Amino acid sequence: MNAPVTLRAVATATAPALVLRPWCAHDVAALVEAYRDPDLRRWASPSVQSADEGLRWVRDRERDWAAGTRLAFAVLEEGPEATQVVGNVVVKGAGPGKASAEVGYWTAARARGRGVAPRALEALTAWAFEAFRADGLERLELLHQVDNAASCRVAEKSGYPFGRILPSAPPAFPLDGHLHLRRAAA
Ligand SMILES: CC(C)(COP(=O)(O)OP(=O)(O)OC[C@H]1O[C@@H](n2cnc3c(N)ncnc32)[C@H](O)[C@@H]1OP(=O)(O)O)[C@@H](O)C(=O)NCCC(=O)NCCS
Repeated sequence: MNAPVTLRAVATATAPALVLRPWCAHDVAALVEAYRDPDLRRWASPSVQSADEGLRWVRDRERDWAAGTRLAFAVLEEGPEATQVVGNVVVKGAGPGKASAEVGYWTAARARGRGVAPRALEALTAWAFEAFRADGLERLELLHQVDNAASCRVAEKSGYPFGRILPSAPPAFPLDGHLHLRRAAA
């Protein structure tokens, strides 16, 4: 997957439009700022604590895009003068012969509660099913730990109904998880 991809989500009555595009070096400061939030560090590892780590993280995402294995998008909110990075969405493991892949997301603390993650996830989901249809993509999986209620709400609001409980896997996942699933339209 080498072609640059830009996705969009329209504005709502209460929230600006979103633009989704691959992460780039200009985003490092916003990335480091977002990772100052303890909730983000808890749920979205590895944590990014400095500009050096931020640049390494961005370079890793660029390599992922070149390899086509893990496609992460910076989510930007459109403003009157500039767009600002407010989140991340990612699809992992899609490709030739892969019937299933996994999605992930986070929203910067200051932008939470206005539907950024579900709207970005909807745009990502629609794109992924289309882009990987010829590769055989049939379902997208979304995993979260049981005590991540906000993430569970994102799944429900984004058309990823609950599938089954995943047993805990310490130390990374000390509690059980939820597997939510969305299938490609027939
Ligand atoms: C989970 C997360 C991505 C939700 O993103 P978001 O853009 O705020 O999504 P929404 O606006 O749709 O809010 C989802 C839920 O978060 C909760 N929420 C609302 N405002 C919030 C705020 N200011 N701060 C924290 N949570 C809030 C509500 O339960 C909401 O559900 P509701 O719409 O039914 O009330 C975000 O909280 C986050 O980044 N958390 C840390 C990283 C993480 O958990 N990633 C997922 C790992 S599986």
